[in-house]
Amino acid sequence: MNDTIELMQAHHSCRSYTNEAVSDAMLDEIIHAAWRGPTSINAQEVSLIVVRDAARRARIAEIAGGQPWIAQAPVFITVLIDFNKTRIGVEKAGQTQVIHESMEGFGVAAVDAGITLGNLMTAARSQGLGIVPIGGIRRNPQAMIDLLELPPLTFPLVGLCIGHIAADAPQKPRLDISSFRHDERYDAGGYRAAIDSYDETIMKYWQQLGRSDGITWSENLGNILKQVYFPEVRPVAAKQGLLNDK
Ligand SMILES: Cc1cc2nc3c(=O)[nH]c(=O)nc-3n(C[C@H](O)[C@H](O)[C@H](O)COP(=O)(O)O)c2cc1C
Repeated sequence: MNDTIELMQAHHSCRSYTNEAVSDAMLDEIIHAAWRGPTSINAQEVSLIVVRDAARRARIAEIAGGQPWIAQAPVFITVLIDFNKTRIGVEKAGQTQVIHESMEGFGVAAVDAGITLGNLMTAARSQGLGIVPIGGIRRNPQAMIDLLELPPLTFPLVGLCIGHIAADAPQKPRLDISSFRHDERYDAGGYRAAIDSYDETIMKYWQQLGRSDGITWSENLGNILKQVYFPEVRPVAAKQGLLNDK
């Protein structure tokens, strides 16, 4: 197995960081790696905002619902949908941009932002750093918009903590790979058995961590997916001009 595959197969999130700074050189390399990633039609409608200031990270930790690792990790990167950048190009060409009002636009930008996030994570981990993605910023997207001074046609989609690892966590098990990979056509036949088995595995994982509050994967999803867990996304995205109505 080559080093890249080994690194990717060893993925795990880190929620415990030392206060050692991430050097400028390391951070530049990570960002350069993500910057070279692909985007749909080469639109490059993704931007990053790097926050290293401790007080601002503490504020983001609060916005994300009280996630202490955001204040602890020395670097927090917000991955933005940035249709403001493309608008400038479109207007230069004498046209009016519409894509940001569509589901296609939001979906494409979310895919491209996800690729960016993935590349940031792989690059940071290849340097021995720890990472954890943070969707919790969408709990209060308006507060992120205010903090980062985001203009219309932009949206803070996801964040990433990066730092030196203080305490490493064991890898979290996954549903059986047969429920991930389908050959030639979709087949949900094994899903229920895979979920039953995974619910048992994840309970053993919590026990191994000494987490008496651990619940099964199914129960956790039931608690979270029974509602739109970040209901501010749609109205705040619409306020930013990302109407999602086309
Ligand atoms: C887009 C995205 C958003 C996430 N948001 C959060 C978050 O706000 N807080 C957090 O602690 N973990 C967050 N995570 C981490 C997941 O909880 C984690 O990836 C998952 O439990 C699997 O664990 P692992 O990454 O250690 O394998 C997020 C992951 C992704 C991909």
